[in-house]
Order: sequence, then C-alpha cells, then structure tokens
Amino acid sequence: MKHPIRILGIESSCDETSAAILQGDKILTNLIANQTIHSKYGGVVPELASRAHQQNIVPVVQQCLEQSGLQLSDLNAIAYTKGPGLLGSLLVGSSFAKGLSLATNLPLLEVNHMKAHILAHFIDDNSSIPSLPFLCLTVSGGHTQIVLVKSPLEMEIIGSTLDDAAGEAFDKSAKMMGLPYPGGPLIDQYAKNGDPNRFHFKVGEMDNYNFSFSGLKTGILYFLRKEKEKNENFIAENLTDLCASIQHCIVGALLLKLEKAVKDFGISEVAIAGGVSANSYLRNSLKDKEKEGWKVHIPKFEYCTDNAAMIAMAGKFLFEGKIFGALSNPPQARMPF
Ligand code: KG4
Ligand code: ZN
Repeated sequence: MKHPIRILGIESSCDETSAAILQGDKILTNLIANQTIHSKYGGVVPELASRAHQQNIVPVVQQCLEQSGLQLSDLNAIAYTKGPGLLGSLLVGSSFAKGLSLATNLPLLEVNHMKAHILAHFIDDNSSIPSLPFLCLTVSGGHTQIVLVKSPLEMEIIGSTLDDAAGEAFDKSAKMMGLPYPGGPLIDQYAKNGDPNRFHFKVGEMDNYNFSFSGLKTGILYFLRKEKEKNENFIAENLTDLCASIQHCIVGALLLKLEKAVKDFGISEVAIAGGVSANSYLRNSLKDKEKEGWKVHIPKFEYCTDNAAMIAMAGKFLFEGKIFGALSNPPQARMPF
C-alpha cells in the first residue's frame, strides 16, 4: 500500500446522517446532515429518522468524496455503524455500506457506535491523544458509561446508568421547562448566565460506578409544579438559574463517579466522549481537575456529537486487526459492547 490507509466512515444510528474520510489518522472530510424535523415532536421519531436518512445518505457520501478529492478506487475499506441505535436508522447506513462494498469490492468494517465515540480521541487533529490505559466517561443521549480503555480493541465498562442516560436527563429537564428538543445544548447556553447553587436537585445514589438519573426528572417535575402554582411565570423568570442548577446536579453526579474510578483504579489519564461531552460546564469542570494531577482529554467539538469521523477512526483499528465484516451480518439495535 503506497498511501496511508483510507477509510470511508458511515454513521446513521440516530438522527444524523454522516460520512467521513480518514487518511492515516487524519480526517480529510466529515459531513453531517442534521435532521431538524424532530424538534417539534420533543424527541427523535424513529420512522421520520429513517426516512430522512434515506434522503440524505447518497448526497452526503457523494459530497464527502468530492470534497476529499478522492475516488472510491482510492479507498481501502468502508466502515459503518452496526449498532447500537434505532434499527430503521441503522438499516439505511448498513444497507448502503453493504451495497457499496459489493459494487467496489472494498471490505466492510462493522463499528460499535459507543466504542467509536471513545476512539474519536485517536484522530490526529492537534488535540491530545490519551495514553493507555485510560478511563473514558461516555455520555450521550442513549448511554452513560465509565469505560476502562486498555487498548483500542480492548475496553471494559466499569459503570453505567441503570435508567436514563445523562443526555436524556438534560433533554427531559429541558422539555419540562418548555425548551425544544434536543434541550441539552440549550440548558448549557442558558446556564452560562445562571446561578448553579440557586436550586438544589438530587440524583439517585448508586453503588460502585453506576448512575441513576430517572429520579431527577420526577424531582424537577414536582418542584416546577409547586412553584408554578405560586407563580405561573416561574420558569420564564428563573430559566437561567434553573438551567445552571440542573446542569450542576447532572455534571456533579458524573464527576463524583469519575473521581471514584480515578482513585480506585489509580489511573489519572481521563477522557470524555459522546454528545454530552460538548457541555461547557462538564468540559471546564474536568479541566479544573488537572490541578489535581489528572491528564484530561476533551474531544474537538465536532467529534463530540454523532459523526462519521469517529466511525472511520474506529474502522481503522478493525482494519489493522484484520477484523472484517460480512454482508450477512445484520445491524444490531442493542449491540453488545
Ligand atoms: O452522542 P450523541 O450526539 O447522540 C447519541 O448517540 O445519543 O448525543 C446526543 C445528546 C443529546 O441528549 C444532547 O442533548 C446532548 O447529547 N448534548 C448536550 C450538549 N450537546 C449535546 N448536553 C448538554 N450540553 C451540551 N452542550
Ligand atoms: Zn452517539
């Protein structure tokens, strides 16, 4: 092979259709078509998501190739998200990847979306690359995990949420305050002008490195109901403080378990991944931990939420390990880690 490995990545697990091209460890292009249709429903509508993927997949991959200046014949493999995710969404990306593989004879690489969020840290983009082993807090709309990363192909979940994911906690809290979906980024934005200690919310106390966020939702619901009886404009008049206090509670719960893991495992090399790692309060709180000797790795903003760059990067490790996919393998909504 004369040139560095080139991999086309395809991501379609939820509501983002994305294609990217990796060359060596660098990303040449990473295109994402966002689906705005879901905001008025307060959450992702699976049927609408798969329909939008169908519309987006061909133009997104085509533009991605055009922008990279490469032809299909310049590639070494096609990596796609096999799971976990919404089955109808996964089917679009996986069927497309398989069709393209058949037409081009390029090998398939079956990527686990959650592992790919973590492996985004290995993209060569001038941000720091964690040394092995490291601990990764993976926080998205569907998952909340602390993962012990021994190598790119060897990871172990040491803790996870027993109910809602952290992103879900953000989105559901936002919904109760009348904010559109996804509310996580909006809470982050409003919280910048709010007092995090004005209101006190609680999350469930779990053993070991596990989390529980479902109680927070109920707590906020009853609190808002009570306050609105006294003042119907309570939310509007206190939105920034509410957002800051809720964010403080969620991020505090995440940090507490991460701190415990760092101490118990004696590993101070720490990374964050997944959509919620875009949260500025979480990013800043983690940066503060460097004063305590932690080595903190925060992904570039564009690699936090769903993207195909991370799928291509994860695919490269599979390619190097000669772990190839097969046309007969179906996507998996609940793919084991
Ligand atoms: O990883 P991701 O893009 O999709 C999933 O695989 O779930 O994560 C999406 C989640 C959503 O819940 C969204 O509200 C949350 O990440 N999120 C944020 C921020 N940006 C995205 N939550 C809090 N603060 C943010 N800045
Ligand atoms: Zn994700």
